[in-house]
Amino acid sequence: MFSDVLLQGRRVDLRCQSGPSRSPTPGLITAIEAAGTLVPLGDETVVVGGMLTPPTAEPHVHLDAVLLGARVPNRSGTLREGIANWAAIRPTLTREDVLERARTVVGWYRQHGTLRIRTHVDTGSRVAVEALLELREEQAGSTEIQVVAFPQEGILRAAGRREAWEDAVALGCDAVGAIPHFERTTEEGWQSVRMAFDLAERHGKRLDFHCDETDDPGSRNLEVVCAQAIDRGFGGRVVAGHCTALHSYPNPYAAKVCELVATSGVQVVANPLDNVVLQGRYDSYPRRRGITRVDALWEAGASVGIGHDSVMDPWYRLGTANLLDAASMLVHVAQLTGEDQMRRVFHTLSRENHLPFGEAPRTAVGQPATMLWYAAADEIEAIRTREKPRVFVSGVEA
Ligand code: FE2
Repeated sequence: MFSDVLLQGRRVDLRCQSGPSRSPTPGLITAIEAAGTLVPLGDETVVVGGMLTPPTAEPHVHLDAVLLGARVPNRSGTLREGIANWAAIRPTLTREDVLERARTVVGWYRQHGTLRIRTHVDTGSRVAVEALLELREEQAGSTEIQVVAFPQEGILRAAGRREAWEDAVALGCDAVGAIPHFERTTEEGWQSVRMAFDLAERHGKRLDFHCDETDDPGSRNLEVVCAQAIDRGFGGRVVAGHCTALHSYPNPYAAKVCELVATSGVQVVANPLDNVVLQGRYDSYPRRRGITRVDALWEAGASVGIGHDSVMDPWYRLGTANLLDAASMLVHVAQLTGEDQMRRVFHTLSRENHLPFGEAPRTAVGQPATMLWYAAADEIEAIRTREKPRVFVSGVEA
């Protein structure tokens, strides 16, 4: 049992049944009472103090590219060179190589208590698509993986790209991706958004856009994604990742877009680790941070998730697959250092980050005792130390 532990803002005692010998409810949470109420049973292990949360979810990472950063060094540290380096190494990928790197990083996520992962896969590599779909099945017993068919180089810029993207969806990807700001023209970007919705409708899939990942205030695809989500009844099944142009929009237009995001039910996923180093590269000084407007989106009532995006890949050479790193970075660069703001960022990892998968898990009586225990006294301390939690799966420590 857990004694005097912080759970959803109050101190409680929590008991779970950890195995078959503890029938009739193995693996479930059986009691949650005010701290000091529950008395340990004879041989029961007791964890005292700290904090409990549901497991975290990763809404945005590129598992096909993880751990490649050292193989193709990014001399300038820029997005442009990252794309070029990825394009150069992509034809050399093998099934075994993709699987081994992705498997390693999924293990790192699991050690940090992240048991759901949504990965994008570049549809320009059939090898990578097949490998990550194989990984999804291989890991199904311990980690829920979703694969997004992501056309890294767009679908309208060159012959064959649309077909490869459609093939990846037909092969069984869970969601349709697109990158409208990277298409040749504004109109072709909007067209790619509509094509993505068409494809998702045909296959009954969700959608996950790389949307306006630029400092260009003229990059205005997010409003089109939201309008399409409303018109086609896709609320709750659409994610727009990055959305860094929102940072640079004129304030009146940004306010309109934030309201539209909230109305449409589209979730914005911020990726602060990559974007704080990749954006602002065309600026001299002052240099923009290039993180989407999280506080304004919250104020409008929109759902915001937080992704790690890269783990030691051609775009971002750092990272440990610890979502608290992304949370800490977001708190700093988006100036979310108010007490309640930091707590909200922390809980986003185990609440809003689950939205792409469906329901967020709950730590409640009758629910599976799959949860994370942090030694930290509270949410702010956990962001400060970015500690690795102890991970309990159905009442058993992993
Ligand atoms: Fe991304």
